[in-house]
Amino acid sequence: MKVLVVGGGGREHTLVWKLLQSPKVSKIYCAPGNGGTAKIAENLDLSDGDISGLLKFAMETKIDLTVVGPEVPLVNGIVDQFEAKGLRVFGPNARAAILEGSKVFTKELLSKYNIPTAGYHRFTSADQALKFLRSQKTYPLVIKADGLAAGKGVLIALSETDARQGIGQIMEDKIFGSAGDEIIIEDFMEGPELSMLCFVDSNSVVPMVSAKDYKRIGDGDTGLNTGGMGAISPNPLYDNALETYCLNNIIQPTLDGMRTENRPFKGILYCGIMITHDGPKVLEYNVRFGDPETQVILPRLKSDLFDIFNAIIDDRLDEIDISWDDHACATVVLASAGYPESYQKGYSISGLESIRTSTVFHAGTKINSNETVTNGGRVLAVTSTADSLERALSQSYKNIESIQFEGKTFRKDIGS
Ligand code: GLY
Repeated sequence: MKVLVVGGGGREHTLVWKLLQSPKVSKIYCAPGNGGTAKIAENLDLSDGDISGLLKFAMETKIDLTVVGPEVPLVNGIVDQFEAKGLRVFGPNARAAILEGSKVFTKELLSKYNIPTAGYHRFTSADQALKFLRSQKTYPLVIKADGLAAGKGVLIALSETDARQGIGQIMEDKIFGSAGDEIIIEDFMEGPELSMLCFVDSNSVVPMVSAKDYKRIGDGDTGLNTGGMGAISPNPLYDNALETYCLNNIIQPTLDGMRTENRPFKGILYCGIMITHDGPKVLEYNVRFGDPETQVILPRLKSDLFDIFNAIIDDRLDEIDISWDDHACATVVLASAGYPESYQKGYSISGLESIRTSTVFHAGTKINSNETVTNGGRVLAVTSTADSLERALSQSYKNIESIQFEGKTFRKDIGS
């Protein structure tokens, strides 16, 4: 079977790596892919946002299954367009992908169906939002741009001055573009975070093993938010009681609510949860695999991912057995100096071939005249599996020493 994987990050390298373990998969194309996928699949000169180009390719090449990694094409309706042409494609359609595409939609849904989340107010003008601040006594506050902003549309305001500045930046200066046409201001929540990812079809939901990602750039969770600087699985806080609570009080009511709103969801549902002193609450929903959570979850999956995707498309998820490895898995992201702000690209990466005890998933890399070079902010995810998280982490940190590129930066405290 021929598979097309849409995307070019560490998540997509991991998806390609896992799908290739299926005896049913004979060939994988990746659009646009990266230096890692170039070695195990065929990269295409097509961006992940070029839905018409991807559709034309999939039809001409008779692709048997398309798997969509990132949120933007999902929110923009890639699944609807592929399905309209009779192609098999894995992911939610645009009506369901709104769970990630609009924070306002999601907050209204959570509120309507009594699903625990932070209190919030929504605003369509800076004037309204600034007026609201006059009666606001408690800080920090969280200001979120409504639409997609490449994971960056959230500001934490520590004071009224910060909040005024943030509202101006989002709604007037449009630092996140049209994502800032509407905002929500929500109560700040504190507590440890949990990434809960589930396989979902029209009838069932199957949670994956738990994970935790490390979003800030600096050790001790300091500095700017990033796409994620490392991840571990399992999340040490997770147990059966927490899973049952989250399934019954968060995930299932959300899926039921989506169905009632005539937006039935199927695909990967990723719920970012904060374990507050009042119990677990929804931080956000994503409608796709997390990055870098995928790099620690899929190495633990024993079942055939190609079969799972097909079962979900056909609403047969309840018929297949999904099993997981008990080992722990950890990944540490190597980034370019300056990330998540500006950074240089094109530096040669050495030492990859000497790594034996970790799997290195590529993100921002490309092949230049047979040489692997940096091509993005997050460059590599050095991933290890072991009988304990401590061992997995120490394997990754040891192997990181062998990988060199100009400006290599990484967090030293993943897993702590
Ligand atoms: N690791 C966070 C995300 O994938 O959105």
